[in-house]
Formats: sequence, C-alpha cells, structure tokens
Amino acid sequence: MAKKQGVVVGTPKVDEFNFGAKVNGDIRKGQLVETTANGKSRIISQIKEIMAVNEYFGDGTIRQHLNRKDMSTFLDKTVLLATATPLAMINDNGDINPPDIPVTPGSEIFSVLDDRTAKKVFGFVDRGINLGAVMYNDAIQVNLNPNRLIPTHVAVLAQTGGGKTYAVLVMLEEFLEKSLVVWDEVLKRNSQMHFLIIDPHGEYDKIRDSAKKLHKEDKISLFRGPFTIPLNEIPAGLPSFIKEITPEITDPQLRLLEDSWNKVRENKPVTINELKNSIRRSSGAKQTRDILLQILEKFVRYKLIGDMGSIDLLKNIAGNNFLILDFSSVTSYIQQIYLRYALMKVFDSRTEGKIPPICIIIEEIHNFAPSTKSSEPPITRGTIRNISREGRKFGVGLCITSQRPSMIDTTVISQCGTIIALRTTNENDLKSISAIAEGMDADMLRKLPPGVALIAGRAVNYPVYAKIRHRMVKEEKEGAFFEEKKVFHIDKSGQSRFFLE
Ligand SMILES: Nc1ncnc2c1ncn2[C@@H]1O[C@H](COP(=O)(O)OP(=O)(O)O)[C@@H](O)[C@H]1O
Ligand SMILES: [Mg+2]
Repeated sequence: MAKKQGVVVGTPKVDEFNFGAKVNGDIRKGQLVETTANGKSRIISQIKEIMAVNEYFGDGTIRQHLNRKDMSTFLDKTVLLATATPLAMINDNGDINPPDIPVTPGSEIFSVLDDRTAKKVFGFVDRGINLGAVMYNDAIQVNLNPNRLIPTHVAVLAQTGGGKTYAVLVMLEEFLEKSLVVWDEVLKRNSQMHFLIIDPHGEYDKIRDSAKKLHKEDKISLFRGPFTIPLNEIPAGLPSFIKEITPEITDPQLRLLEDSWNKVRENKPVTINELKNSIRRSSGAKQTRDILLQILEKFVRYKLIGDMGSIDLLKNIAGNNFLILDFSSVTSYIQQIYLRYALMKVFDSRTEGKIPPICIIIEEIHNFAPSTKSSEPPITRGTIRNISREGRKFGVGLCITSQRPSMIDTTVISQCGTIIALRTTNENDLKSISAIAEGMDADMLRKLPPGVALIAGRAVNYPVYAKIRHRMVKEEKEGAFFEEKKVFHIDKSGQSRFFLE
C-alpha cells in the first residue's frame, strides 16, 4: 500500500507544485509521487528539488541564534519543502494524459505507485526487458517494451566504470531468458530478436555464464578471429570494397582491378589466385599491376580477404541468436575493415529478409563512428551512419555504448531513440547527453549513485531513474564502479602518500 509522504502546500501550478514533508520521511530527489487533482484525477509527479525549512532560523535571526547555548528545542521544528513536476494525469476511467489542471492544496502525497499504474504511465509491459526497479520506488519494475527500445536504437552512456557493459549484459540476459520477440517490418510478423555483438575488450563472453545457468549455451557463439572476409560475398563486390578501405588507390589501379575482376567473375566464384593471374595478364602498365598486386597481397597476408571466410556470419547469427565478435586481440585496422564488411553484410541480408531482426551492439562507438572533429574518419563511420538512419525500416537496431558521448558522430547519436545514461562527470559529455535526452538533469547525472541509470526517450513515456538489477550470475568484481587509480606520490616533506586520481 502506498505510504503517505506529505501534503500539498502553497499555490500549485499545472507544471509545478510544492509539498511539505517530515524530515524523517523517505522522500528523495528524483523520486516519483502520487497525489490528486480536483478530488478524482490522480497525478503522478517527480520530485525536482527538496529544501529544508525552519521558521525559527530565518536570515533575520542569525545573531540571536549565534548567542544561544541550547538550540535543541528549535531543531525539531525543521520540515522539508519539496518541489515536484507533474508528469501524468490519470482520470476515473484510467486514461492517461498530460496534466492540465493543478493538484489540490492540502491533498496528500504518496510515495509508491502500484505497479499497474506505473506500467501504464511509463509504458512498461508485462513481458518486457526488466532492467531493474525505479529508483526509490522498489515496487515498480522497469519492464521496457522491446519494440520501443531496439528498433529505434539505444545509446548507453557513462564514464568508464559507470556500468554500461553491465547494463547491456542485463538486457541480453532478458532476451536470453525470455526469448523476447520484436515486430519484423520486413516479414511483417513477430520474430525472435538476434544479436551481433562487437566486443573490442573481450567482455561479452560473460553472457555465456548466464546462458549456462539458463541451459541455453547453444544460443551463443563467440568468435575470436582470424577475421577473414570471403572474397565472393562482399556486398557491392570486391572492387568497390577495396576502393573504400584503401583511400590511396589511384583511378588507373581501380580500373584495372575492376576489369580483371569482371573478366574472371562471370557469375562464378573467384579465387584470389585467379584474380591475381587476371591482373598479371592484363594489358595495364606494369607499375599499376604491381602496386595493385601488392595491395591485394597485403589483405591476403593479414588474412583479411580469402577464398573462404573464416566464419559464416549469417548462419551464426540465425542459428545461435547471439554472435559475439571478440576484437580484443586484433588491431583497430582489422577491426574496422571486418566491422565494415559485417555491417554491410548483415544490413543487406536483413533488407532481403534472409536473417531475422537483429540488434547490433557496438561497444565504444566513438572509435568506429567519431564526430567530424577527428581528421581521418574510420571507414566504419559511413556504414554506421547509414544503419542508424535506415536500420529502423528493416529491423536492424543499434545498441551503442560510449564513455565519450561528446565524441560520437552527431548523426549516429541523434538517431538513438532511447538514452540510458549512468554516472557521467565530464562537462562536454554532460552537454552532449543533455542535447539529446529530453528532460535530463545534468546535476542529477553527475551525482547518480552507482548502477542507477536515467532512461529517457522512446522506450519510456517519461524519463525514469532505474536501479539496474544484478545480473543472474554474480561477477567477480561486482560493484567495483568507477575505480579510482591509486597513484604513489612523494610530497615536499619527503613523505610518500597515496593519492586518488
Ligand atoms: N548494476 C550493477 N550492480 C552491481 N555491480 C555493477 C553494476 N553495474 C556495474 N557493476 C560493476 O561495476 C564495474 C564496472 O562496470 P562496467 O559495466 O564494466 O562499466 P563500464 O562498461 O561503464 O566501463 C564492474 O565490475 C561491474 O561488475
Ligand atoms: Mg564497458
């Protein structure tokens, strides 16, 4: 049952009102409260600020108090004055609308909504992605509707150690456990969600522990390389791919490549050797041939292009639900080239309905799709931009994470319908998050307790602070948030000390 927290005082407005509360109550900034308007409509509001008020300690009484020896009789006269912003109004027949009348002075304030009402207000669903409970309202479970989260892209943002990867793992556990479905725009039916996970730090093998617990190990495949692209399966063909990943290639070299490729291609699979021979036999200038052969040779040497791919991407995605590409042991050059291929391949196959709806998780997106400020953009940026704009129509969702939101390409970040933001302290990053997440309070974000996330955007009707739940399998260093670096310094007096940086 809802607990009484205070009483509406003053002259409430439609968009804001004050209520008085006892100092020893449970009210907190960011918390959700419920009260009534005109005696029947219920109003759900969020606490924006809390002040402590004591009429015996006004500014005019300072001198008098400074001289007083015992103040105990006045101290317990303090009360709290909270300011709250009405979010939603629920009328007699359960309809939810933006509030258009003020709350009633003197009406009581309750802290806990029942879960059913909250579900309606926030747009939560029964079988949804359960990320945890609403902060300070433990009774309300944050159950996001998969159709409102994945297809329109989600960005998980926070400083290092803020809990981004953990939150994504929780999301994955939900899909794994509940086999959640999403609407497939291409095939016009509900389909199970599949995931391609781009993992630059080798952290996502942790999801296998959860899968083990659920006896669903077969749902996950993990691949660590070599990342070889199959020569004959490159969307748009090898020549145009080589052109895009080799900015230094000249027009004559490219023409020679196209001619040689077309000659051997003739509707049959080509081998690297056939292509090389075709280049050697061509009538182009010797130097052009030699350089082109060297370019090709480089990709073959890095095992980046081969007659056969090292993995059948589409089969792995469709067959296992979760495909993790662990990029932790390859250079960023190889990461980018393979990622570009994988994204193009997945996107193309999806538009043709060859693979099920998919969510592509890209950790550290600022490395693959940085803002224009960086001089040489990586070759992945265009493809990621394209998916961020077009993916929605074809059931390709993006879930991106970054500890530097201000360094993400603006097209990509602005296409993210939902923002999940955990603690962030960098001013530039806070500014970028404020620019995209409506109703975000930079001050709140700076001070968020560990593991608490602001969820704002399409997945929720109103921004909500959620306490991300624990994973179903405990992690080794669980709760080790924003680990400060311990540095050993010697100060002027010659004494050594630990400093936290
Ligand atoms: N909701 C949570 N509950 C408990 N521990 C958490 C939670 N979120 C993160 N952690 C722990 O905090 C640490 C940092 O989290 P992580 O997700 O790796 O941060 P990030 O990806 O933002 O750098 C990890 O040790 C993780 O286990
Ligand atoms: Mg991380």
